[in-house]
Amino acid sequence: MIDGLPTLEDLGDVDGRRVLVRTDFNVPLETLADGSRRITDDFRIRAALPTIQWLTERGAEVVCASHLGRPKGAPDTRYSMEPVAARLRELAPGVELLENLRFDAGEEGDSGDFVTRLVSGIDMYVDDAFGAAHRAHASIVGPPRTLPSAMGRLLAREVEVLLELRNHPKHPFVAVLGGSKISDKLGVVEALLEVVDGLVIGGAMCFTFLAARGYPIGDSLFEPDQVDTCRRLLESSKPIHLPEDITGVDADGAYATFGRRLPPGAKGFDIGPGSAAAFSDIIMDARTVFWNGPMGMFEDERFAKGTRTVAESMAETKAFTVVGGGDSAAALAQFGLDDRIDHVSTGGGASLELLELGDLPGLAALRKAPNVG
Ligand code: 3PG
Repeated sequence: MIDGLPTLEDLGDVDGRRVLVRTDFNVPLETLADGSRRITDDFRIRAALPTIQWLTERGAEVVCASHLGRPKGAPDTRYSMEPVAARLRELAPGVELLENLRFDAGEEGDSGDFVTRLVSGIDMYVDDAFGAAHRAHASIVGPPRTLPSAMGRLLAREVEVLLELRNHPKHPFVAVLGGSKISDKLGVVEALLEVVDGLVIGGAMCFTFLAARGYPIGDSLFEPDQVDTCRRLLESSKPIHLPEDITGVDADGAYATFGRRLPPGAKGFDIGPGSAAAFSDIIMDARTVFWNGPMGMFEDERFAKGTRTVAESMAETKAFTVVGGGDSAAALAQFGLDDRIDHVSTGGGASLELLELGDLPGLAALRKAPNVG
């Protein structure tokens, strides 16, 4: 038991028992010319293997269940689990995988009927779907109401690392945030400002902050309705580091580097070289670093330098490094640096919500399982 949360050992004897394992196999897929779909990154499937193997080695019969994409509560071949099932057969032969949970509207609606069908013939439940633990959906909060339940190894590790970061970080603790929208990350920014020694802001969200400081940002993407909020955040007692230069295109569409003042018609797509060097120094001097969100449009090589520099600094620093899922994890993988980070979270939204609130619906459900307390 960790903090009232049951671990695999709290299930008792699993030999011969049918165990439902909620995984987050919501993996990126690409459609090939012949219409078939191929997994482009199987990180989330591999991440569930320690739990699956722990159970199968002890004689359990494992049934995995996951959502994939956002189908609208009805079967839709575009979101079939088949490509995932094929990969799982290679990695964990003999393990069953149910069809996409979101093919039934009862999943997102947490319907009692759907939970009853899901747990029928099942003896125990394991939640290893960290990336979905912030969703109060049937497969997350339903089974622990009646079945002996536990966190899988992946979920346990995510919770341990992220709560340690939130509650007992080694200082200096720096959070590096990027991505396009500050509105999506407002809650976590406010929570982080309570614990960090400094916040570093890149990505398109920096333009809303720069606008709040009164700098002209040309035609760069920003959120006008969040300028006042950014102004308020900038009044925090903690330093918020904004880029001192920007790379993008000028009004004629030509590649250019600007200072903090962008001319009319210019668009910023990455932090500039001076900012990348300054952000790198901050990361190198920290003892704990959390990174979420790319510094620019890294999919375009011209605008990948800022994200690459942050990724390389994360790999090189002696600090304890944590990367919160999604695009930053994809960037690390693209640069071949993912194995040089202390913890790459499998959850984007879930990692931010856990840092913000210190709890998630999936964890609250496990604490009330019949085998706890
Ligand atoms: C994710 O990819 O962040 C998780 O699988 C959750 O997916 P969702 O945002 O569609 O609920």
